[in-house]
Amino acid sequence: MNIIVTGGAGFIGSNFIFHLLRKYPDYRIICLDKLTYAGNLSTLKSVMNNAHFRFVKADICDRKAVETLFEEEKPDIVVNFAAESHVDRSIETPEIFLQTNIIGTAVLMDTCRKYGIQRYHQVSTDEVYGDLPLDRPDLFFTETTPLHTSSPYSSSKAGADLLVLAYYRTYGLPVTISRCSNNYGPYHFPEKLIPLMIANALNDKPLPVYGEGINVRDWLYVEDHCKAIDLIIHNGKVGEIYNVGGHNEMRNIDIVKLICRKLGKSESLITFVKDRKGHDMRYAIDPTKIHQELGWLPETKFEDGIQKTIRWYLENRKWWEDIISGEYRNYYEKMYSNR
Ligand code: NAD
Ligand code: DAU
Repeated sequence: MNIIVTGGAGFIGSNFIFHLLRKYPDYRIICLDKLTYAGNLSTLKSVMNNAHFRFVKADICDRKAVETLFEEEKPDIVVNFAAESHVDRSIETPEIFLQTNIIGTAVLMDTCRKYGIQRYHQVSTDEVYGDLPLDRPDLFFTETTPLHTSSPYSSSKAGADLLVLAYYRTYGLPVTISRCSNNYGPYHFPEKLIPLMIANALNDKPLPVYGEGINVRDWLYVEDHCKAIDLIIHNGKVGEIYNVGGHNEMRNIDIVKLICRKLGKSESLITFVKDRKGHDMRYAIDPTKIHQELGWLPETKFEDGIQKTIRWYLENRKWWEDIISGEYRNYYEKMYSNR
């Protein structure tokens, strides 16, 4: 089996590559990644010399480069993780989100049609459903919840999902889509809540909580997401959408306080800052379909996952210190000073 994993130098894509190489030693895995600010070759260091792995630096919007790769590798499956993924950046600069997340998806699927493919899998997000009110804990996102996006990021992901379903219906392209809740774990870029709070706490820097910190996210350990995608590409039904989430809802402020406790840092580092524009209140996935049809269940409890994650950031300081000492500093200044 030849599998192209796009965006494999990022957080979830890299964890997915490690998962595939561990579980299917006979597969050939090709990572296609543009290496944007969020892509990091040092993340893939441990697999670069693996004979079953190849890294190719390219943009998913670059039709010629994508076609050349398909000619060379004749992939059986494409799993598309490549995306601009940060909501705050999408509020500052929407255009690149439309370019990569929508046009890039179209280029990949056109190429799949041209060369033939067993499966095109689109890694989507629960953010396409918009948000749920805090006072209705009985409500959850199912696969039939209407799309109702809030940010340029989520709108671009929803646009891509609609295009994927259109390619299935119009051209019969064998597609599947997964819509997962918030992931956490190793190699998570330090602009996102959990790694940002760990890095800042370790450096005794303020912990910037948006608004009152009462927004709720449904956290899933990244390996559980990878296992769900593995099941979907092997056993999932073509044309179907699968929601992925582990019923682990937590308020932002409680996560930040937990990180302070685990690192022995004072909660006085917590600073409430101006809220995110259009900030979604609550995400909550109903994973009944993937459980009943594919037997998926999350395996890592949050208490264990957050412990493992914090340990990883303590043991891999160089990985995130290199990031926060580079170009990221300008981003941080722009987004957080005078907020
Ligand atoms: P990330 O930002 O950590 O990584 C994105 C990767 O895509 C980077 O390696 C980057 O270099 C690459 N990339 C960006 N633009 C590209 C382009 N034009 N061509 C080729 N490569 C490009 O993102 P992530 O958090 O790992 O998310 C991966 C996917 O999962 C995204 O599609 C995201 O929407 C989705 N998702 C993320 C979460 C989450 O909690 N992080 C949850 C659900 C779904
Ligand atoms: O739900 C899945 C989505 O989860 C993915 O599709 C996105 O790619 C991923 O980035 C993530 O989006 P969020 O916006 O939920 O994640 P983020 O880590 O940016 O923020 C989580 C919550 O924490 C959110 O309510 C905003 C808040 N927050 C975030 C940052 C960066 C803060 O309070 N302070 C911060 O500094």
